[in-house]
Amino acid sequence: MNSIVRNITAISGISTDDFRGAMRHLTGGVSVITAGRGKDITGMTVTSVSSLSVEPPTLIVSINREASSWPLVKRHGFFGANILAADQLEVAERFAGKDGLKGAERFAGAQWTTRISGVPLLVGALSAIDCAVEQAIERHSHVIVIGRVLDIQRSPRTAALAYWQGRYVAVDQDEDAARLAEVSVPLAHARAG
Ligand SMILES: Cc1cc2nc3c(=O)[nH]c(=O)nc-3n(C[C@H](O)[C@H](O)[C@H](O)COP(=O)(O)O)c2cc1C
Repeated sequence: MNSIVRNITAISGISTDDFRGAMRHLTGGVSVITAGRGKDITGMTVTSVSSLSVEPPTLIVSINREASSWPLVKRHGFFGANILAADQLEVAERFAGKDGLKGAERFAGAQWTTRISGVPLLVGALSAIDCAVEQAIERHSHVIVIGRVLDIQRSPRTAALAYWQGRYVAVDQDEDAARLAEVSVPLAHARAG
């Protein structure tokens, strides 16, 4: 396994506001990371889930080391990556810590199941991916967690929840296709004329 770390001293005057402003343009799919088992469970809303490799199936997620989920992910060595549907905005807000709910309280009001690892997986998520921690790389304020996929639970739904410009947006294949059709019809006419 190769690991290259370069210690780069600050050479530019980029402020945190500059960086945040730049990253607001990146549309992120919203997921909930779940950890623990039984009553010792918690979770958090993230946009940092991303596929790492298909063979073997692995994904990465970047977790703040201060987040209450990290000690449970570290201790148990498993986590769930639940990719949220557009109508699961309330779940996203609960797991972002809105209303001050903590731990198991965040799971109320939604249905959960378990698969191989035993971490809670959200029923109705677009995909709920059961993972074992393969590697965790602590860097700056965050830890990059590499998860090996153990099992997958999928839903037939497609409308996704995304985060863009500091707000939640729905990405709906059918609605967006309809909107594109509206735009493309006049264009097609213009070209024909
Ligand atoms: C849309 C959205 C995306 C987020 N993405 C991340 C992320 O990728 N990594 C992270 O560490 N925190 C992320 N957060 C913040 C965590 O959800 C939040 O800090 C956590 O749930 C609360 O921490 P606690 O469990 O310690 O109370 C995000 C929050 C929101 C609203």
